[in-house]
Amino acid sequence: MHIDRCYCFQQSFADLKRIADEEGVQTVDALQEHVTFGHNCQLCHPYVRRMLRTGAVTFDRVVRAADEPPTEAAR
Ligand code: FES
Repeated sequence: MHIDRCYCFQQSFADLKRIADEEGVQTVDALQEHVTFGHNCQLCHPYVRRMLRTGAVTFDRVVRAADEPPTEAAR
C-alpha cells in the first residue's frame, strides 16, 4: 500500500506540503483556503493532518481519523 495523495482531487501530499510550508498553514481547513483537496470523501484528512504534524508525504499504512484526530492548532 502506498498512499501519497488526495485521490478525489489528485493532489499529492508532497504538493500540499509545499503549499502548506509556503503559506505557513498548520490545519486542513487553513490549507483548503489555498488549494482544492479533501472536499469529497475526506479519507485524506487524517493523512494531511499527519503530514502537517510530521512532514511525511507518503504513507504505507492506513491512517484513520482516530489515529490522527483534528487539533485546534493555530492557523
Ligand atoms: S481522498 Fe481526499 S477527498 Fe477523497
